[in-house]
Amino acid sequence: MPTTSETNPNRFLPRHADFVDRLNAELERLINADRLSEVGRAPERLVEAMRHALLAGGKRLRPFLMAEAAALFGAEKEPLTAGAAVECLHTYSLVHDDLPAMDDDDLRRGMPTVHKAFDEATAILAGDTLLTLAFQLLAEPETHADAAVRAELVLLLARATGAGGMTGGQMRDLAAEHCQLDAPAVRELQAMKTGALIAVSCEMGAAYAGAGETEREALRHFGAAIGRAFQIADDLIDTQSSAEVAGKATGKDAAAGKATLVSLMGPAAARQLLEETVREAEAWLEPYGERAEVLLATARFIAQRSH
Ligand code: IPE
Ligand code: IPE
Ligand code: MG
Ligand code: MG
Ligand code: MG
Repeated sequence: MPTTSETNPNRFLPRHADFVDRLNAELERLINADRLSEVGRAPERLVEAMRHALLAGGKRLRPFLMAEAAALFGAEKEPLTAGAAVECLHTYSLVHDDLPAMDDDDLRRGMPTVHKAFDEATAILAGDTLLTLAFQLLAEPETHADAAVRAELVLLLARATGAGGMTGGQMRDLAAEHCQLDAPAVRELQAMKTGALIAVSCEMGAAYAGAGETEREALRHFGAAIGRAFQIADDLIDTQSSAEVAGKATGKDAAAGKATLVSLMGPAAARQLLEETVREAEAWLEPYGERAEVLLATARFIAQRSH
């Protein structure tokens, strides 16, 4: 069992880079006007806005976690379409998060945001379409041979990203600009806005592979812990990094008066909490020993990332 300091990032990096290539190829295959035309022809401008948001880059961490969780439990086929679905949902959340009515950002993934490159109405519709496409992709027969598994994936993702999950967290995050939240309230907000999607990506990988409840629970807890770590890292990036490195504007949380664990505890204590949270995540995978090494290396990457 590798300890924190022994976990080798080299086990993560090449595997992650290869996965990103496969996932991007899958997104290319799925997101085009021919494939998206149903009742009528999908408008080119809408499809271009979706492609702009999706194919601008992005670390693809949620689909990667899903694929690695599925591999841990011996999935016969890599969950590339299911991973693309989760990436569509995540990207919709970014497109809407950047809108003038929300964080009002001009830069995302090192590119102009969708409402800047196109216009606001197109950005709203592109986000909407990525959201509905995510659930369509999960329900497509090609995603998994077992219809019960497909329905389970739909249910898991829907539960994680609605009012009691991601969008509820985004709502609370906006309210946090106008009231002083304490640390437990910030933790719950962050578990909803960011943690839920990361945790469910891990659990969906286990469900895709047909893992039992105990395994799914372990992956859910691992995912929730790295979700917490992920948002602390994001908040540290906001205070300590530059737009050139992060690919998005920084210094926004303090400017908006937003309570984060970094603003409440200070950066040094937040970094310590980040390390503890990663150790907590690691403990959930202890039963899997070396088989979980890539997931453990991913947890380290999430904590140490600079973008
Ligand atoms: C950024 O997510 C938004 C948050 C949930 C904090 P990522 O850091 O995973 O963004 P991409 O997908 O790599 O661009
Ligand atoms: C965004 O959080 C979370 C979601 C999109 C659900 P942030 O507003 O902190 O993300 P960035 O910093 O813009 O990427
Ligand atoms: Mg935001
Ligand atoms: Mg934002
Ligand atoms: Mg942020």
